Amino acid sequence: MIGTPRVPFVAGNWKMNLTRAESRELAGRIAAAGPEFGGSTIVLMPPFTALGDVAAALTGSDVALGAQDLFWEDRGAYTGEVSGPMLKDAGCAYVLVGHSERRQYFGETDATVGRKVRAALKAGLRPIVCVGEVLEEREAGRTTARIDDQLARGLDGFSRDEIERMIFAYEPVWAIGTGKTASPGQAEEVHAHIRRRLEEGYGKTTASCAIILYGGSVKPANSNPLFKEKNIDGFLVGGASLEAESFIGIVREALLAYREEK
Ligand code: 13P
Repeated sequence: MIGTPRVPFVAGNWKMNLTRAESRELAGRIAAAGPEFGGSTIVLMPPFTALGDVAAALTGSDVALGAQDLFWEDRGAYTGEVSGPMLKDAGCAYVLVGHSERRQYFGETDATVGRKVRAALKAGLRPIVCVGEVLEEREAGRTTARIDDQLARGLDGFSRDEIERMIFAYEPVWAIGTGKTASPGQAEEVHAHIRRRLEEGYGKTTASCAIILYGGSVKPANSNPLFKEKNIDGFLVGGASLEAESFIGIVREALLAYREEK
């Protein structure tokens, strides 16, 4: 354990799934389970079209709203884009930046990640900055070098205060949607590395308070052993966040681990 025990932080990235009605239904069921969450931070990230519906379904609950991406300008002629102030206006508190699917399919680079992180902070959103290696990089022993690159280039020029408003997510690309989870040991190794880098750059306090999430085929069955690792503060969940039972199960298992170990 590093610093004080941290309650779980679990975010559901719904990706490009669910209609507005389905989103309302799922958000309502998760909000209703609120008393079970024991002070955990829970964030739902629906597609843009359902942000308003999910915001309404979460009213009066402790479950927070997030978006999956943003553009770095506030407004203007940028067809198809959505800005930080718009997300704030829609009720978001968090936004994903640099998800591997954005990097892989939509040309997101470390430089655009940096611009988006800056825009998120300016809008008063907490960015969840995603990093992770592809299988070839892992097999070539270049996992930590890749993570270092993403952190160094994506976070170049940010102050300690800004770093403290960020959340980090380690998502090994080979574990996303594949059913292959990083073992607790594999994930912990990278999480500890990220925390070390934060300590080197911004000091012990900043590093020990940083929230570092794991993502990649998280399910109720692996939530507990992953959360028991010292540097894993919670999860960024894809597929299993589309079912209330499995998402709630992940939070429940993480809470059990927190209560047992931390
Ligand atoms: P899966 O949980 O479906 O592997 O997705 C992980 C992810 O990409 C969350 O952002």
